[in-house]
Amino acid sequence: MVNILIATGNYHKFQEIKSIIGDSKEINFVYLNRDYKIEIIENGKTYKENAKIKVEGYIKFLNENPELDSEMSLDYIASEDSGLEVECLGGDPGLFTARYAGENASDIENINKLIDAMRVKKECTENRHAKFVCLACLYDIKRRSFRYFEGELKGSISNKISGTKGFGYDPVFFVPEFNKTVAQVDSSEKNKISHRAIAFKQVAEAIKERERL
Ligand code: IMP
Repeated sequence: MVNILIATGNYHKFQEIKSIIGDSKEINFVYLNRDYKIEIIENGKTYKENAKIKVEGYIKFLNENPELDSEMSLDYIASEDSGLEVECLGGDPGLFTARYAGENASDIENINKLIDAMRVKKECTENRHAKFVCLACLYDIKRRSFRYFEGELKGSISNKISGTKGFGYDPVFFVPEFNKTVAQVDSSEKNKISHRAIAFKQVAEAIKERERL
């Protein structure tokens, strides 16, 4: 049995990652909820740096809480940093996707800010292309090694909200393959093609290879 801590405070992300890697007898997924105060200052200049900062934040927390650490008997820590890049906004919100409308902004506040920003930008009338980017980091505790894996999902930004599934910008992220927004499809459909699925399928392979599962 391999124990893997998913270093995120976002339960949606945790659930997605768990079902992408696949629940199995061999892999046990661990989530530390927001009751644990884990300090992460996302001040990296790239998604990769931010993904590493998240793992390091959890390592620090576990070092400060040795009882919890030994109770969980972890083998890996995995994190990810993701973002939305909109072509007509020059790649914005990018690294600031989660806090586009301000620190602790809600999903709907972020979406509204995006729609407003695109409404006033001339280039956005014709070009609404965008992509989600996910940079996954896998930390092997025994070997103290970091590995990184990337995934992208291309689509466009709709000017109205559709669908109630998923999280974040899913209600305005239109995917041509679905002819729907991500929020209008089931998670099983999203997990076939999403940026997070592409990155975490590689994480799963890396774990399986190393553990000979
Ligand atoms: P992070 O938690 O710092 O990586 O912030 C990434 C932000 O990008 C999230 O809070 C979401 O707003 C957005 N995002 C990333 N992946 C997705 C997705 O799959 N669907 C919708 N929004 C996403």
